[in-house]
Amino acid sequence: MPVMVHASQENSASGKYIGTVPVCQFFNGSEAPPAGIEAPPAGIEAPGLESRHSGLLPAPKILFSKAGFQSIIFWFWRVHCAALASAKAPFVIHMVVVSIRRKIMADRKVVAGAIRTLEEVGAKARVFVSMPVIKGVTPRAFVDSHAAEKAATKEPVTRLHGIFALDEVGLSFLDHSALYGDACFEGILIRNGIVFLYREHLDRFWDSAAGLKIEIPYSKEALAWHVINTIQAVGFDKKESGYIRLIVTRGIGDLGLNPKKCVGATVYAVVSTIKLYPKEAYDVGIEVGVSKRIRRPGATILDPRIKSNNYLNNVLGLIEGTRNLELLESLMLTADGSIAEATVDNVFCVVKESGYRTQPSKVKLLTPIGAYCLKGITRACILDFARKLGYKVEEVADLMPVDLLGDDRECFMTGTGAGIMPIVKVCGNLVGDGRPGEITRKLLAQIQKAMANPAFGVSTSADRGQVARYMKSKRSPIKL
Ligand SMILES: Cc1ncc(COP(=O)(O)O)c(C=O)c1O
Repeated sequence: MPVMVHASQENSASGKYIGTVPVCQFFNGSEAPPAGIEAPPAGIEAPGLESRHSGLLPAPKILFSKAGFQSIIFWFWRVHCAALASAKAPFVIHMVVVSIRRKIMADRKVVAGAIRTLEEVGAKARVFVSMPVIKGVTPRAFVDSHAAEKAATKEPVTRLHGIFALDEVGLSFLDHSALYGDACFEGILIRNGIVFLYREHLDRFWDSAAGLKIEIPYSKEALAWHVINTIQAVGFDKKESGYIRLIVTRGIGDLGLNPKKCVGATVYAVVSTIKLYPKEAYDVGIEVGVSKRIRRPGATILDPRIKSNNYLNNVLGLIEGTRNLELLESLMLTADGSIAEATVDNVFCVVKESGYRTQPSKVKLLTPIGAYCLKGITRACILDFARKLGYKVEEVADLMPVDLLGDDRECFMTGTGAGIMPIVKVCGNLVGDGRPGEITRKLLAQIQKAMANPAFGVSTSADRGQVARYMKSKRSPIKL
């Protein structure tokens, strides 16, 4: 059976288990490791995770191993239980019926909760929509709406735009985002009356569109204003948090894939609220799984630095890694088995050496290199804050799931929607003492401070001139 091999990195800065390097492509796991590869240090085997030595898929030795013996005993035990159960058949049938009924009720509750959330979003949200007008194709609810006005763009097609309620208009069935996922997006946070790091998000939006060769028909200043205008139409109060989902698609085209047949981008921005995780999860942290089969593709397949609307890979990774959504998040690995990121968040590992409480340089923050993941805006904030706090910071190409474990570790993930979420278990194995760590909390406090600082964005009540001035000033409060 092919097995990926990783060797310990002798001079790895963490000292203990951080830093593995893939040293040979594949070899048979039942053989001894090739010369020069060390056996794993004792105590780092973790159920469900790669062992440093035997790699991704340890070759099972069924019969004569300890595990083989245990599985035979277990099999006898099951036969014994089955015999007992047949004597109590009516009781067993009753229990099965009860558990099926419970599952149906639980599923109904989940759907009812999802409907409630959607209705709340529908009542609150407004959406800025901009589309070319193609007779017989562009939805009439949009074209004929009083809210739609002519957009002054330099395209050879008439374009209308306006602000609508969520149930007023829709996209064309021929939009290539619906047909092919041919689009990119941004998720932007509104907190304390500020659109947090708005310019940085819009810059990444333009970069993603350039990566897909989609032309955005507006200047940055103009689109920035339309979105702010939509926020004002929603009317958040200062204490309320909000979320902007800004999307540009290849636009309306024929049923073929070729982007040449599209007549101009569709742009829309949904302004609403978002709640990715339950509030309690931030206090106690979450467990993540690892998606082993579905991997995060590299730049030659679908560049993870482009925030495209093609998230199928992440969706499948989430389903696999969370054992059919039993957990809330999953780590995704690169093709050669190191951590890339989570399905909608970046991942960090904190390594603490003794004396770290008084000497910040004894804290090291590790995160996968930018080429493996979306270069998250929250990730950039954390890297910047950590450097300013005096922590060592490293972007690494070889962080393995097993590296997140150990007494001297903390782990968390970051994202605009998620904020900073402590990870306290990986595939059932404890990170640190299984509680959110103090370094994680310190970094969380830093980002909360930034979110209350007007220098970290633009006011939601800014007028058109203020938005234009904000967009023109190139000074960013963080190092991206
Ligand atoms: C795949 C992926 N990684 C990371 C992130 C976090 O990025 P940011 O902090 O910019 O929201 C996201 C957010 O949407 C994401 O989808």
